[in-house]
Amino acid sequence: MKNVRLDKFLSEKGICSRSEAKIFAKKGFITINGVKETKSDVKIDPLEDIVLFKGEEISKGQKEYYMLYKPAGVVSATEDKKEKTVLDLIPKPYAKDIAPVGRLDKDTEGLILITNDGELNHNLLSPKKHVDKTYFVRVKGLLDKSDVEAVEKGIDIGDEKDTLPAKLNIISSDDESECEITIHEGRFHQIKRMFKALGKEVIYLKRLSMGSLVLDEKLGKGEVRRLTEEEITLLKGK
Ligand code: URA
Repeated sequence: MKNVRLDKFLSEKGICSRSEAKIFAKKGFITINGVKETKSDVKIDPLEDIVLFKGEEISKGQKEYYMLYKPAGVVSATEDKKEKTVLDLIPKPYAKDIAPVGRLDKDTEGLILITNDGELNHNLLSPKKHVDKTYFVRVKGLLDKSDVEAVEKGIDIGDEKDTLPAKLNIISSDDESECEITIHEGRFHQIKRMFKALGKEVIYLKRLSMGSLVLDEKLGKGEVRRLTEEEITLLKGK
């Protein structure tokens, strides 16, 4: 669908500002599907049109990295017939093949990385790499030293193997308790199942970080921003 202005597209790709786009288009620097385009306010289809800037294709092949503060009620999928997905929260245009790295439950909030960098996606999820994930958790019931020890030792959550040693920091303990937990795996419903095995129900769950990537405190629920070059480099471990 031709629904994005060329100048907006160029500025979001980091090529130039919207006002510069006007000048560059006039100068004949831009072609769309092989045809020179001299107006920067035309609408393009960001998913289908092939845009060249000074002869170089900018519409495809670029890696895109977004940090999303996922709100509750949104599913971690690329498409869903009924539910709102994390991709619905990414401003268009975005690369056709972006996808969330891993999943958070529909009722879980917090950090989700969304990218079309398949290698990074694979590396961050690989069970062999043990990438740290830290969550803020609110549970029903008290938390004490015995829970910290159990988490440190590994817990039987009904899988073939106990969970790997993890770290639990208690923030408060009362009828409802709060803590931060860092795990090095990503099993299905892992945090909820760990606390269930400890006799506690998770009533709120938010992911704070994944590897070196930390949820930006400036982002509100449902907001998104691109990763900085530094964040990308650190995540790639280079
Ligand atoms: N563990 C869970 O139980 N749910 C999540 O969404 C993420 C980790």
